Amino acid sequence: MNLNATAVVTGAARGIGLEIAKKLISVGWTVAALDMLEDDLATAAEALGEMYKPYTVNITDSVQLKEVASAVAKELPVVKGIVNNAGITRDTLMMRMSEDQWNLVIDVNLTGAWKVTQAFMRSLIRAREGSIVSISSVVGLVGAAGQTNYAASKAGLIGMSKSLNRELAGRGITVNVVAPGFIETEMTENLPEEVRKDYLSRIPAARLGLPVEIAESVAFLMSPSAKYITGIVLPVDGGLTT
Ligand code: NAI
Repeated sequence: MNLNATAVVTGAARGIGLEIAKKLISVGWTVAALDMLEDDLATAAEALGEMYKPYTVNITDSVQLKEVASAVAKELPVVKGIVNNAGITRDTLMMRMSEDQWNLVIDVNLTGAWKVTQAFMRSLIRAREGSIVSISSVVGLVGAAGQTNYAASKAGLIGMSKSLNRELAGRGITVNVVAPGFIETEMTENLPEEVRKDYLSRIPAARLGLPVEIAESVAFLMSPSAKYITGIVLPVDGGLTT
């Protein structure tokens, strides 16, 4: 199957973003994989083949993004999907947080998503169809000590998406948010046993989620089955926040 349409996925060189790319490719999307990690992009491209197109870019850099947007427009099928997945953490208690730690997380997680969406959205508007999905976090819904910067960026994505939904829903474009809970990734693999136990005790499903379970939700929200679902925040968290 080939949809003859491109989904732009940020942070698609590894982790959840790579899993999202794999899933979207499996249902027929061409994926424009945007990431800073050139080597990881190349490894993924080798493994995933023709439908995975790597672009090395820092999403905080508007100039680089414009260049990538015009390259994608020239080289790939029409863009009908945007997945804002790239994200970073710089955790520390607010008392100790530097302005740089605050700014960097907001710049990548929130402003980066805004820039990427703005760079590619014209194509969806022209096509009069498409979907935009941003990856937030349960932390954006309930907060976490040591993550004022991260939580603000992830809550910001929700406000941005709900507003953009009001601008675009009438044009056949859905705008949604997926809010993962604790997911098995390198980040959570290295947690101290105590912290891991504490997380598990708070998750009704009694296990961490898998990257593929985030990817499945993103692919659903981008599928024709979800055409009438827009402006929502979908928690994928084993019942943690509900
Ligand atoms: P990860 O660190 O494995 O992957 C993030 C990717 O984003 C990396 O490939 C990185 O190079 C890329 N990236 C970072 N800054 C960038 C920039 N300025 N320009 C271009 N690419 C950039 O992280 P993971 O765990 O896969 O997380 C993916 C998303 O899911 C993030 O937004 C994260 O906040 C969110 N999330 C993750 C959870 C987890 O348990 N792992 C839980 C909830 C949300």
